[in-house]
Amino acid sequence: MPILLHIDDVEPGMQLASNVVNSFSVLLPHGRILSENDIQALRRRFPDLHVQVLDPLLDQVIEFESTGKDQETSLKVRKTVSQVTSKVSAVIRNGVALDGNNVKGIESVVQEMLAYICENPVTTAIIEQSNSWDDYLQEHSANVFYLSLLIGNTVKNYIKQERERLTSAATLHNAMDLLPLATGAILHDIGMAPLEHLYHKVEPLTEQEKAAIRAHPKNGADALPDRIDPMVKQIVRQHHENQQGDGYPDGLSGDRIGIFARIVRVADAYSAAISQKVYQNAKNPVCVLYEMIHGDYSEYYDPILLKVFASMMQPLPIGAKIKLQDGRWAVVVRHNRKDPFRPEIIIAFDELGDPIDKENLQRPMVLGVDPKLKVESFMGHDISFINALCAVSDISATEKHHIARECRELFDLAYP
Ligand SMILES: [Fe+2]
Ligand SMILES: [Fe+2]
Repeated sequence: MPILLHIDDVEPGMQLASNVVNSFSVLLPHGRILSENDIQALRRRFPDLHVQVLDPLLDQVIEFESTGKDQETSLKVRKTVSQVTSKVSAVIRNGVALDGNNVKGIESVVQEMLAYICENPVTTAIIEQSNSWDDYLQEHSANVFYLSLLIGNTVKNYIKQERERLTSAATLHNAMDLLPLATGAILHDIGMAPLEHLYHKVEPLTEQEKAAIRAHPKNGADALPDRIDPMVKQIVRQHHENQQGDGYPDGLSGDRIGIFARIVRVADAYSAAISQKVYQNAKNPVCVLYEMIHGDYSEYYDPILLKVFASMMQPLPIGAKIKLQDGRWAVVVRHNRKDPFRPEIIIAFDELGDPIDKENLQRPMVLGVDPKLKVESFMGHDISFINALCAVSDISATEKHHIARECRELFDLAYP
């Protein structure tokens, strides 16, 4: 069973419960018993790193949900895709237009990854936070690809379930083809390739630089070869359009934005917000998901896709140590598919941070079931907003059917 610790709290002899990864490379494999040298090296390179280590005491009393398979699938897909993105960005940066062969190359990797995800279905979308920004565009495009595909797949599954429920459901032509979505997600920021140096700029951007960035969706779409699927071009051009019509470049709103562009919009916002930037620290995934779903930014996104996205994200990972308002600490043991902010927890550490004896441990519970139990922080970030969310009930079956129906309508719009 894993427990998530800040690198400063890790001690020699502890065993890694998951890989330590940077830029899709495994630096230290899971199962490794950490030495003083390992810990010192990690602290030097990544002062804010959190690692999952095994906790033998809790392991004896409770079975933790395993997310190792989902982690592995995510890493493999994103690593493969990041290599493609790197090649495509180099072509554009060198001022060469993409041609049919480039597109064919991308599409064959995409097909391979689509098949891989079908064979390895994912229950939780896991995107570890990057510890560096050196290959931002490459990593970001790979993350957006992965998240967009998972959203697309989930929407597809909702449609399937709804079809099975409604015997008279209409046939949707090509409704299962996610190739344009996947290709568009890889290429969505291709217009940023010539502006990659701006990711590293510490000083505020000039007006001219801001204008160049705002032009990247249009420039990216224009840089794509004519033979590419028009839906791919549409994704690249529309991925900064907002649901309310205040996005760019065309100020489109609602259904006038293509369904695939709306999917990429959600994946893009999340990936960008959790990434480390030269001018901005990475935000904690719990706060990012909360802002996207319940905060001011929620109006930017398609509300149904946002719900679908929330259902596959688990921003409080298994093993996360959550500080409670009464001073004790809880650990996440199981995810809650109905509500990403209310996982199953066990109160495992007392007010002094010492492990609670096996005999005195209470049974795990879903966060919010006990209204007296209030959360305070996670990894030093205030997450007390979760207390208000806990007062709201789970998604009802009726609402699920409603989401399913609306997802089907989204695809009707995509394939008229
Ligand atoms: Fe973009
Ligand atoms: Fe992006």
